[in-house]
Amino acid sequence: MTTAAPYAFWLAGRQATGTGAFDVTSPWDGALVGRVSVPDDAQVEQAVAAAEAAAAGFSATPAHVRASALDHVSRRLAERSEEIARLITAENGKPLKWARGEVGRAVSVFRWAAEEARRFNSGEAQRLDTDPGGVGRLALTRRFGRGPVLGIAPFNFPLNLVAHKVAPALAVGVPIILKPAPATPLSALLLGEILAETEGLPAGSWSVLPVPNDRMPALVQDPRLPVISFTGSDTVGHAIADSVPRKHVTLELGGNAAAVVLADWSSDADLDWAAGRIATFANYQGGQSCISVQRVVADAAVYDALAERIVAKVREQATGDPADEATDVGPLVNEAAAVRVADWVDDAVAKGAKLLTGGTRDGASYAPTVLADLPADAVLATEEAFGPVLSLHRVNGPAEAFAAVNDSRFGLQAGVFTHDLQLAFRAHRELEVGGVVIGDAPSYRADQMPYGGVKDSGSGREGVKYAMEDYTYERVLVLTGLDL
Ligand code: SIN
Repeated sequence: MTTAAPYAFWLAGRQATGTGAFDVTSPWDGALVGRVSVPDDAQVEQAVAAAEAAAAGFSATPAHVRASALDHVSRRLAERSEEIARLITAENGKPLKWARGEVGRAVSVFRWAAEEARRFNSGEAQRLDTDPGGVGRLALTRRFGRGPVLGIAPFNFPLNLVAHKVAPALAVGVPIILKPAPATPLSALLLGEILAETEGLPAGSWSVLPVPNDRMPALVQDPRLPVISFTGSDTVGHAIADSVPRKHVTLELGGNAAAVVLADWSSDADLDWAAGRIATFANYQGGQSCISVQRVVADAAVYDALAERIVAKVREQATGDPADEATDVGPLVNEAAAVRVADWVDDAVAKGAKLLTGGTRDGASYAPTVLADLPADAVLATEEAFGPVLSLHRVNGPAEAFAAVNDSRFGLQAGVFTHDLQLAFRAHRELEVGGVVIGDAPSYRADQMPYGGVKDSGSGREGVKYAMEDYTYERVLVLTGLDL
């Protein structure tokens, strides 16, 4: 897995190396996974100029060319899936089983993008003779690219959240410059290998540039990149949006997702299912997903029976080496992340929270942890844990449950365990989130669904078709003098 020569980056579809390089190390054992070459300012300028130059031609490419290219990428990801999963595990520390799942999802993102590319932009016709001045006129609305996209990806899904930025751009024919997370650039660079062998993607239509974070402000400001698609922390996301108020900025930010368990979800089978799903999705990839379960909001009628089961299931999570097939929970992305989580749990316990299990750290690994009676002034009560930490909250009835979910500055997804269809619709109506999942944890995401948040969880939507809409805008064509 290690390599002596630095990984090249991708500049306008071609391999290139810069003047410096940085190390990517395994969060599990600190081993060197690879060295990555860093583009210098002149190379970044070349990539931006190439994206600008490619924009008009790329948008005119026939749909079948873009769709075939995307189909090819999907197929090649599938063919190389085991190699890519192992690379994700090595650079990110994500257990192999979850890394394999991530690759499978990226295969589907590119497949969906190919399908949507064939469907997209057939246009919508509107008659205009609804008023006398519009007789003989017809409006035809189609979508056109806003311009080259700057995609900024996070470390927690080093392949699939890159795919969610790149695939929709290629599907609509807008160039993209992708900046991977410094901790996990290798999966994106490997995706670059596949893009480079793909026919139908003009030079300049894509670049993968591991630009260090401290050099990003210049790229963010560049007027030739009018669209920014950012996934990461709310602090950085809001700073980017505030720094370029005239750009089109999509923000996929954090969350502190809640799983609500209502009183009717009460049989042994119900509670076992809910506890299993909650325990799994509070801890998958060390809780480093924006929709991992951070809060359980349970009706008093089921709270005790559920809490006991959740604690038991959390204790069953197998921790350890992420490359081990049996491991459920590996390390966090680095030791600093685990120290932060430990500090926040200690803060909660010092302020009166009850530690039901977990609460220990070993290097970059943090034990799956369950807290009860979390006080409102604990950091964990308001911030995104982004670690394997769950807090349990007792409520009385759906109104109190939904109010507890909404009592947050975040609003990404929520899960509601209920059999009652009316309560399902009420949850959909009342919860201030981007998505409500009934009968499962909030962490469920199918990649074609609209995905994104409200409040401090961001704005705009990903999910292939929705990102394609986001990268484009409607332009109307009025035809006159028609004999309709
Ligand atoms: C995220 O962390 O926002 C992405 C979650 C997912 O794609 O499952």
